[in-house]
Amino acid sequence: MEIVIVGSGGREYAIGLALQNECRIEGIYFYPGNGATEKLGKNIDFKNHKDFVEFAVREKIGLVIIGPEAPLVEGLADILRENDILVFGPSSKAARLEGSKVYMKEFARRYDIPTATFVQTQDYAEACRFIETLNLPIVVKADGLCAGKGVVIAQSYEEAKNTAKEMLSGKSFGDSGKKIVIEEYLEGFELSVFAMCDGKDFILLPAAQDHKRLLDSDKGPNTGGMGAYAPSSLATPALLEEIKETIIDPTLTGMEREGNPFSGVLFCGIMVVKGRPYLLEFNVRFGDPECEVLMPLFKRGLLDCLMGCAKGDLKNVDYELEENVCVGVVVASKEYPYKNSKKEKITFLDATPVENASIVFAGVQKDGKHLLASGGRVLVCVGKGRNVKEATKNAYGIVKTIKFEGMQFRKDIAYQVLEEE
Ligand code: AMP
Ligand code: GLY
Repeated sequence: MEIVIVGSGGREYAIGLALQNECRIEGIYFYPGNGATEKLGKNIDFKNHKDFVEFAVREKIGLVIIGPEAPLVEGLADILRENDILVFGPSSKAARLEGSKVYMKEFARRYDIPTATFVQTQDYAEACRFIETLNLPIVVKADGLCAGKGVVIAQSYEEAKNTAKEMLSGKSFGDSGKKIVIEEYLEGFELSVFAMCDGKDFILLPAAQDHKRLLDSDKGPNTGGMGAYAPSSLATPALLEEIKETIIDPTLTGMEREGNPFSGVLFCGIMVVKGRPYLLEFNVRFGDPECEVLMPLFKRGLLDCLMGCAKGDLKNVDYELEENVCVGVVVASKEYPYKNSKKEKITFLDATPVENASIVFAGVQKDGKHLLASGGRVLVCVGKGRNVKEATKNAYGIVKTIKFEGMQFRKDIAYQVLEEE
C-alpha cells in the first residue's frame, strides 16, 4: 500500500524514516514535506484539503498519518474518513482537546482529571478578580491555537492583568485569545506522555522529556523544543500507572461518552508536583522533537499500531519496543526563535554513517545538490544507546559532523537524568 504523511517538520520525517523499511509500504508521500523528505518518498502539494482528499481517493491511499495539529482541528481526518480513507489522527471535535484550552480545562473538571486550578473567562474584570486570588507567578493562556505562543507565565499581578487584557481585546492572538484561561502556576518537572489510542484502548509509549528553553540550564526564551530523550527514568512505573488511571483512562472514557471517541495520539503534557502528575495540556499529535526519539524505539509493529488506531482495533496489535534510550539534539538556525534567518548551506563533514545515530531533517530546503538550512529548527541529531550517556554521546557525535553558519544547539540535553547515571 501507499501512505501519506501530512506535515513538513522533523516529526513527519522521523515517522517516514521509521516506516521506510516496512515491506508492506510501497510508497510514502509527504504533504507537503520538506527539502529532505524526498529521500524517503515523494512530496506532494495541493491548493486545499479537498484536492488532497480527491488525490487520496484516486490513488487508493492505504493510510494517512496527520502530523500537525492545525489540519486536525480543521477537520482533515473527518473528510478523509467520510471518503473511506484510513486515517491516523482524531476528528476535529476530538481535536478540541488541543484546539481549545477552555474545552480541555472544562473537560478535565468534568472528569476529575488533576490539573491546575483555573477560571476561564471572556471578561476582563472577572480575570482580574481571579488573578488577585493567586500567588505569583500566574499563568495566562489564550484559548485557541497560537503556534505554541499562547501561554504567558506572568511574574507580577500587573503583567498578568495586562496579558489578560491584550489577549481578550484580540490584540495579541486575534480570535484565539478572546477567551482565556487563568491558572495557578505548578512547580515541578515536566514529562511528555504519549498514548496511541483507537477510541477505546491505548498503548502507552515510553515517557519523554522535552527541553523547551533555547539555552543550556533551561535559560532563555521558550521554543518549540530544543531536544528530547526517551524513556525518561523520571517516569517511574508507579507514576505512569497513576497517569494512566487519573488522566488517560478518564479521558478516553469521557470522550467516548460525549460522542467524540479519541483516536490518534494523545500527548499529555504533565507536570509532576511532589511526585503527583497534573495535566498541563493535551496535544492531539506527536510532540516535536519527542517523536524523533520515540520512533526509533519501535523494534517492530509501528505500522500495525498506526493502523490499529485508525481501524479501532488496537487490542490485537503485536508490537515490540527496544530496551534502548534515544536522545535527540535539535540544531536550529541563527535567529531562532526570534525571527527568520538567512538561508545557509549545510555542510556534512563526515559522510561515514555513525553507528546508532541518524539525522532527522526539518527546516531544510533543496538547492540543487545541496541542502539549505531554511530557518527555525533545521534538523535533529538522534543518538541511540543502552543508556542516556551512550545515546547522548552518539547524538552529539553526529552534531559534530554538521556545519552551517549561525547553527545553535543546546549542549545539555538529558541533563536532568545524566547526573544520576
Ligand atoms: P501548554 O501549552 O499549556 O503546555 O503550556 C506551555 C508550557 O507552559 C508548558 O510546557 C509549561 O512549561 C508551561 N506551563 C503551562 N501551564 C503551566 C502551569 N499551570 N504551571 C507551570 N507551568 C505551566
Ligand atoms: N515538543 C512540544 C510540542 O510538540 O508541543
